[in-house]
Amino acid sequence: MLSVKSLMTAVAVTALLMPASSYAGGTVEVLHWWTSGGEAKAVGTLKEAFEKKGGTWIDSPIAGGGGDAAMTALRARVMAGNPPAAVQLKGPGIQEWADQGSLNDVEDVAKAENWDSVLPPSLASIMKYKDKYVAAPVNIHRVDWMWVNPTVLAKVGAEVPTTWEEFNAVADKLKAAGITPLAHGGQPWQDATVFETIVLSQGADFYRKALVELDQDALSGETMVKVFDQLRKLRGYVDPGFSGRDWNLATAMVMNGEAAFQIMGDWAKGEFLAAGKVPGKDFLCAPTPGNGYIFNADSFAFFKVSGEDQVEGQKVLASLIMSPEFQETFNLAKGSIPARTDVGLDKFDSCALKSHEDLTASVKNNAFVPSMAHEMAIPRTVRGEFLDVVTNFFNSDMSSADAAKALGEAVKRAQ
Ligand code: GAL
Repeated sequence: MLSVKSLMTAVAVTALLMPASSYAGGTVEVLHWWTSGGEAKAVGTLKEAFEKKGGTWIDSPIAGGGGDAAMTALRARVMAGNPPAAVQLKGPGIQEWADQGSLNDVEDVAKAENWDSVLPPSLASIMKYKDKYVAAPVNIHRVDWMWVNPTVLAKVGAEVPTTWEEFNAVADKLKAAGITPLAHGGQPWQDATVFETIVLSQGADFYRKALVELDQDALSGETMVKVFDQLRKLRGYVDPGFSGRDWNLATAMVMNGEAAFQIMGDWAKGEFLAAGKVPGKDFLCAPTPGNGYIFNADSFAFFKVSGEDQVEGQKVLASLIMSPEFQETFNLAKGSIPARTDVGLDKFDSCALKSHEDLTASVKNNAFVPSMAHEMAIPRTVRGEFLDVVTNFFNSDMSSADAAKALGEAVKRAQ
């Protein structure tokens, strides 16, 4: 499981002047799932920078938010003995692939550029296998956000809610006025994203017990029943067309004033920005109720490929991903904040600054927790059980008590 305590020391890291990278050229095939407007813009900055270094970029995008389709494609490629050189991969998934002997390390790049001194230790440890870097992080996304259309909210004279009770009251008003309160895409990972923000509202300790330590009492007890009660409430606030909708189309509903809220990580901000919308004016960002921070860090892992050209390409890409300039450019487009602790935030907007501020506070308060829905907390197989139960609940009239019981049983089976 992830140690987040060590992050506390991260803030003490001093800025280092980076030597200009000595790596150039090579070829990489890059498998990723960044296909929405904001995502494509962000990954485009990486492609462009790589090509500027003289490299050849072979793009392998697999559509499907949250990356479930991409992970299926990856398994097929590895089984066929033909893995892509670089893969968008994260959390325990990195360790799982490394354990199977599928990853190359980029330790010589990491040592030469002193990655250890510029990454939060808990993030660095996710990127390493047996003390060697096998992946490079691009960002830190925050999951527990609400994206709000202020004009729509003003129509019913409402403020941005800070508790679920307030949220429900505002949503009832919107519904009465014929406005869809919550834009949502009914896909398992999106249901799980909303679910985990409600879990966090019950406290970071409860979140950790249930979604990281997989404690049976937390999974099937009274507090979890309350979590499902609130999820049932939210189910009543989505429009009839929610089923199967892509997350970025739900973001567009908030953008166009068809709905008031979306609960989604800050990749949603990338969509607003790509459409030329201004935070604080055209849209608002506010943490979902509760105190804490659910983190989701994207990274690229380097698969075992042969041939000098590809291995060189992996090194060039690793060096580029970790360069301060790239971390700034990419994250300005992606909606996240840099993974490096020494990149200034002067060019970042109020949502990013709020994310950074809350991250620092949550580390201090031990309320900085990894995302279950986004594969930062637990193995994929166990995550799959969560997604099944949560989605079944969302799409049926299952009682909250039955859902909590089913969750405990499903997780036990998967362990
Ligand atoms: C997350 C990923 C984000 C974003 C999102 C929607 O899992 O970490 O970068 O792309 O999926 O596709």
